[in-house]
Amino acid sequence: MKKRKVKPTYRPETKAIRIQPGRTHNMEHSSPMYLTSSFCYEDSEAMRAAFADENDAYIYSRFSNPTVEEFTQRMSALEGAESGFATASGMSAIFGSFMAFLKAGDHLLSSASIFGSTHTVITKFLPKWNIRHTYFDLTKPETIEALIQPNTKMIFVETPSNPGLDLIDLETVAKIAKKHNVLLNVDNCFATPAIQRPLDFGADLVTHSATKWLDGQGRVLGGIVLGKKELVDEVYAFCRSTGPSLSPFNAAASKPCTCGWNAIPATPFRWRRPWKATSTWNG
Ligand SMILES: Cc1ncc(COP(=O)(O)O)c(C=O)c1O
Repeated sequence: MKKRKVKPTYRPETKAIRIQPGRTHNMEHSSPMYLTSSFCYEDSEAMRAAFADENDAYIYSRFSNPTVEEFTQRMSALEGAESGFATASGMSAIFGSFMAFLKAGDHLLSSASIFGSTHTVITKFLPKWNIRHTYFDLTKPETIEALIQPNTKMIFVETPSNPGLDLIDLETVAKIAKKHNVLLNVDNCFATPAIQRPLDFGADLVTHSATKWLDGQGRVLGGIVLGKKELVDEVYAFCRSTGPSLSPFNAAASKPCTCGWNAIPATPFRWRRPWKATSTWNG
């Protein structure tokens, strides 16, 4: 009987753990940390090609670094995202995702229960660029549609919210966002992809503060924006020039799955199997 070739399907955490930069001539077991600001080239033509984006050669760690890329690729595998851009903090991920898609005259529809600094960005800084907002009650999704204006460009939700742990049905919001051609941006910091993958429910963008559960151990500041490549490219363009990038050091410390479950797993995965809290809240 002819043997059928079965394509292996891996769980997201298995995919993530298999992502590593290529081994160097030192044959290291664990991926090294690339603490370097810039990179060298064989000759000036190789450098020209790299700077002209004709290949994937690393250029400058504000926007390309192997250690940061490892973190980004692992997070993309866990969130089921095409692409990602890692940032210096959760706030720079959120701010970058706003700046990449909102312009003067646009309207942002956001859940009211959001992290304090996100509230400050929305109410104090976005109005400086004439970007206005309306808040809705996360627990009343039925009110959202009526609040959409002709200039609404983005719906932003934080679910579960910090610190109230309010929730919203992401599929319902995603349907409304699609119907009105509005981007749905989800702060998935509290759930992590261990528990919730917003892109699977129709979200366009996912933001994280890696400072919380992704690191899980209170050691680093970091963040990331994930989604379709064409959207993340816009975030990349903003962050490449303005510089709120994740450092290789913090990327190495918070990259999920570095040694077993060093990072993400600290809490949510342990909660899941079996349901037993094994660490205290570090928010
Ligand atoms: C839900 C949520 N989003 C964003 C942030 C901001 O992240 P960071 O402190 O890494 O800038 C936090 C921080 O507590 C948070 O809890």
